[in-house]
Amino acid sequence: MLTLGIETSCDDTGVAVLRNSDQLLSNVLSSQDQIHSPFGGIVPELASRKHLEMIDPIVDKALKDAGVSLNDIDLISVTQGPGLIGSLLVGFSYAKALSFAAGIPLIGVDHMCGHLLSIYLEKDKPSFPYIALIISGGNSSLFLAKGYDDFALLGRTRDDAAGEAFDKVAKLLGFDYPGGPIISKLAEQGQSSIQFPRAWLGEDSLDFSFSGLKTAVLNYCNRANQKGHDLNKKDICTSFQEAVAEVLVEKTVTASEKYQINTIVLGGGVSANPRIRDLMTHRCRETGKQLFLPRPSFCTDNGAMIAIAGFFQYHQKDMSYDMDVYSRSPLG
Ligand code: KG4
Repeated sequence: MLTLGIETSCDDTGVAVLRNSDQLLSNVLSSQDQIHSPFGGIVPELASRKHLEMIDPIVDKALKDAGVSLNDIDLISVTQGPGLIGSLLVGFSYAKALSFAAGIPLIGVDHMCGHLLSIYLEKDKPSFPYIALIISGGNSSLFLAKGYDDFALLGRTRDDAAGEAFDKVAKLLGFDYPGGPIISKLAEQGQSSIQFPRAWLGEDSLDFSFSGLKTAVLNYCNRANQKGHDLNKKDICTSFQEAVAEVLVEKTVTASEKYQINTIVLGGGVSANPRIRDLMTHRCRETGKQLFLPRPSFCTDNGAMIAIAGFFQYHQKDMSYDMDVYSRSPLG
């Protein structure tokens, strides 16, 4: 079975061709980082216009790279939400039209499910149930994954998502968008010398909050500027990253212990962060848990994770051409 996966929920046009669940024939990505970088964040109107321009050539390239034609495709899987409505509409309308015109079955999948199942693109696969930490530009959530279409939300961010915090702190330090990769590079050269706050939100809470941390970084920079001190940006990056990593990792370990589930899976763009991956690996070893990490290119938005989620969910979901995109995930 060949699945064409289409992802346009945010600022990347991603298209992939997957044979069954285990042979990724192509995975093409057109990034919009350069377009949004001068604005310090994503400009929704520019994002949807760029998707409109790129969707057709990227689908063509994905089919060509896979060595197949549209006639060979058995299923079109497309992101239905959550995300930017204008961006989602481009991929979803394109997929609907392609499905209708070529007579290929269509499935709309939740972007979060793509992140939750991206680990199945790897050789080393977890079995259910597992605890999943999904950290991206728009979400920071802990899930109990019980099946390919059965995810229970355990905790979520009460304000900024982890990626949003990385991007906002990067902006206030004068770095380009997206800030996560820049901060994580600089953090490798600094020391964790500044004690930024960790928001634990109560002993049992599995929720996250990163806006206080972002404000603490802002206040630290303002105080240093007022005193005429030079900012040691590398140390700020390391200390900030450490505060984010510690909370994410400890709450994931707590969830695993609370629900007595020893398998942990990571997903979403922020899980490409080397320090978060290292700390999680270390804590899982220390506490006897099994950790599954998708490679970084499967962590950030991509068409392959949408293809595999569609492949797994195809027989469990009804699809009609009346279905529409949505900005907020029903998963939470
Ligand atoms: O999953 P993703 O590609 O898109 C969303 O669905 O949001 O995640 C993008 C987010 C951005 O906020 C970006 O700054 C962050 O992931 N990110 C990172 C790293 N690579 C990407 N954050 C921290 N460290 C990284 N290495």
